[in-house]
Formats: sequence, structure tokens, C-alpha cells
Amino acid sequence: MDAFVIKGGKHLRGRLRVHGAKNAALPLMAAALLTDQPVNLSSVPDLADIRNMIRLLNELGVDANVESADAGSTQRGEMKVRLHTKDDQKSEAPYDIVRTMRASICVLGPMLAKRGFARVSMPGGCNIGDRPVDLHLQGLRALGAQITLDGGYIVAQAPGYERGKPGRLKGTRIFLGGPFGSTVLGTDNVMCAAALAEGRTIIESAACEPEVVDLARMLIAMGAHIEGAGSPRLVIDGVEKLHGVEHAIIPDRIEAGTFIMAAAMTNGDVTLENCPLEAMGAALDRLHAVGVHTEVVVPDGQPKPVSQGQLSEMCAGHTVRVSSSRRLEPIQVTTQPHPGFPTDLQAQIMALLCLADGNSIITEKIFPDRFLHVAELLRMGANLVRSGASVLVSGVRELEGAPVMASDLRASAGLVLAGLAASGTTTVNRVYHLDRGYYRMEETLRELGADIERVDRPAV
Ligand code: EPZ
Repeated sequence: MDAFVIKGGKHLRGRLRVHGAKNAALPLMAAALLTDQPVNLSSVPDLADIRNMIRLLNELGVDANVESADAGSTQRGEMKVRLHTKDDQKSEAPYDIVRTMRASICVLGPMLAKRGFARVSMPGGCNIGDRPVDLHLQGLRALGAQITLDGGYIVAQAPGYERGKPGRLKGTRIFLGGPFGSTVLGTDNVMCAAALAEGRTIIESAACEPEVVDLARMLIAMGAHIEGAGSPRLVIDGVEKLHGVEHAIIPDRIEAGTFIMAAAMTNGDVTLENCPLEAMGAALDRLHAVGVHTEVVVPDGQPKPVSQGQLSEMCAGHTVRVSSSRRLEPIQVTTQPHPGFPTDLQAQIMALLCLADGNSIITEKIFPDRFLHVAELLRMGANLVRSGASVLVSGVRELEGAPVMASDLRASAGLVLAGLAASGTTTVNRVYHLDRGYYRMEETLRELGADIERVDRPAV
């Protein structure tokens, strides 16, 4: 099992390019089930979860052609993926694959809408919490689907479905808010299903995440009628058919945020290309409050500081230079649905605030138990007190290297950041979690001057 061995204390310097977003790519790939024509995706990150989604789509009768960076026409760490449905009789998303990746649930809405029937293994909980799918099912039921549970599988059928006849879902008004706000993949599932339903669907309390907007953009390019993407109210007028499409995945705001924090924690000076500033308002706001400087590098080479006023005018893919003050200010951070601060950057900003000059408070409002990294950061000398869904972070002068255990994707990223800034050696075990969401992170960090190695360690 791979581990990272990090000798901390190096200032990160240099340039990197942000990859396409995993969390945008996964539902977009599942949406290929909505059409018989080819869906050609570019800027797809080359990650374990993407390979798993390809495996799942193969199981569901979709042929996948993958062109990776080795072929020369794509960026390092990205792929072009062509998805083409060849057999629409296969409707089972098996437990083996779904248990490895919760985003497998994204095939439910598209299969139900296009094939009239789906049997998808019920995803279980995971290290970041219970993660129910009740809102997905509630939304699909509202569109007329009959849904039952059978031996751990969700079995869904559209009205009028018979063998050889898919039937059709029916548009309606749906409220998709839950106890923790909107649901990202739930909105994706219901939006995909409604795109082929009969009549108008209105989704209230829809997720506003940039990844949902990317899916809506692709569906519209496939012939769907969707208005309001990026707002909590989606209006979808169902069409009978969707056609093929070519689409480039948006850059990964979480990968970008992670590297910005790595630069800040190491007193570095790093330039990120393809950085989706427009999608990062809350993260940049908090980072600026900490004392992290970001400057947009304009084509004539003159950097200009990023102000909040400018953010809304910026489209994806900017070149941004990041540096930080020696003194990091303490702050309050609350994770929220977009446009709030993303839960997927909570572990990383906790690592950063461990080194701030004073007391910070982090409150997790999306996954209240997403704190497995707390115990590991304590092993590195952090001063953290958890109370329910909040953690009081009292800054320390220095973190000390230690062996730590990665528990989920973003917690792992937080531990790597802590290791980069710590004195001595940190070993982050079980980095397979990290590999699900970051393309060869150790190589990128090494290019920026970090002392980091991937080693093969016996399982711990
Ligand atoms: C997506 O998960 C992301 N995954 C997660 O990123 C991210 O943390 C999360 O959105 C929140 O931003 C992908 O895009 C593949 P939710 P998703 O449904 O859609 C509750 C990462 O690290 N809820 O928006 O599954 C839920 O328990 C991953 O890359 C219900 O109650 O998350 C949570 O409290 C981890 N019922 C809240 O809503 C439901 O039916 C938001 O979850 C669905 C969700």
C-alpha cells in the first residue's frame, strides 16, 4: 500500500496546471447514458475514480475509448474519453463497483430516463459520514418512478415501462432541499432524469455548485432545455431525445484550492494555470483573510490583484500567482453549499490554520462528522479541540513530522499539506485515498521543490 514520505520545511516555488474536475467529470460521464450517440469529453482527469466510472459504464453497455496524455494530444494527467452506448439492455450497477465509488449513483437518473429501468446497488456510508440518497429517490419518485429496495439494490422503473418499451417520466415541481441543504449528485440525477421527462420540471433548492452548472451546460449542448443552472431554481422542459456532444470538463476548484493552501503554508510562491477563480469566491475570501495573496497574471505579464468585485466577471481557467505573509491570521470558516466555503477544502484549511497566529473556528455544515483528520493532526502537534460539528484550532509555532493515516480523499490532502510545512519527516499512509482525486500529487509537489517520495509500505 503506497505511502508518502515528506521531509517538511521546503518553500514551494514554481508553476503548475490545474486539471479537469473529478466531481464534474463523473456525473457528465454518467450522462452519456442519456443518448445513443457518442459523448466526447476532454480535460477528464486521469484518476482512479474516473477509471471506475468507465468500468461501470462498460457494465451498462457503454463503449469507452480513452486517449491519455501518452498519446500527446492531451495535457499530462488528463484524458479524452469517448463514450458511446452500444447495448441499452444492461441495467445493473453492481455492488462491487458502487461500493468503491459513491458517485456511481449518478447512473440512476440517466438510466431510468433513457431505458425506463435501473438496478443500482445502494451506496453505503463512508468515512465522511452516513451519506443517504433519500433526496435522489424522492426526486425521481416525484417524476413518477416506482422505486423499491431489493437485496441492497435500488430498483427503479419509469411509468409505462415494459420490456422493449422504456415508458417515460413525467415533469413536476420538486423540492430537493434536505437537512444539510441542497444535494449535488441528487440535483444531477434529477436534472438528467427530467431532461428526458414529459413536460416541465421545476427543481427548487437545487445545488448551485459549478459542477452542476457544467452538467447543465453539457445537457443543453445535447439538446436539453434547462434554465437557471447555478441558481437554486432549475426549470427543465423535457425533450424526447438527446444527441451526442463534445465537451471540455471545467478545471478543478478543489485541486486549485489545495495547491493554493500548500503554497501559503510553506511561504511559497506558486503560479497556477487554469485556475477556476470564478468558482472559488468563498475559498479566496477566507484565504485573503488569512493573509494569502493572489494575483491574476494577465497576458501582458503584469500581475493584478484579485478583488471580490472582479470575481464574478472571471471565467474559468486563469493564471494566478499565490504567495503568503509570514504571519497567518486566524479566521472563522463555515462549510456550506456553494457559493459557501466547500467542505472538500475543510481538512486543508484546518491544516493551514494550525499554523495561524491565534484561535480559529471551523464549523462543518455539510458532513458534521468529516473530522477524521483531527486525530492525525494532533499527532503532529496541532492544538485542536472538537465540539460537535466545530473545531477550535489554536495555532502553534510549528507542526512536527509523524506517521499519520489518511482516512478519506480530502483528509489525506490536509495531512500532506501539514507534512509539507512540518519540521522533520511525515509519513502519510494509505495514499490510495488521495489518488482518487489528485493526479500524482507527489510529482507536482516535487516539481515545486517539495521533498516528497511515494513508497510502497506494508498495510498499516
Ligand atoms: C458531492 O457529493 C461531492 N462528490 C463530494 O465530494 C462533496 O463533498 C459533496 O458533493 C458536497 O459538496 C462528488 O461530486 C462526486 P451531497 P454528494 O448530496 O453529492 C446530505 C470529494 O471529496 N444528503 O451534496 O454525494 C448529505 O448527507 C467528495 O470529492 C441527504 O441528506 O453530496 C450531506 O450532508 C466527497 N440526502 C449533504 O446532503 C441525500 O439524498 C450534501 O451532500 C443526499 C445528500
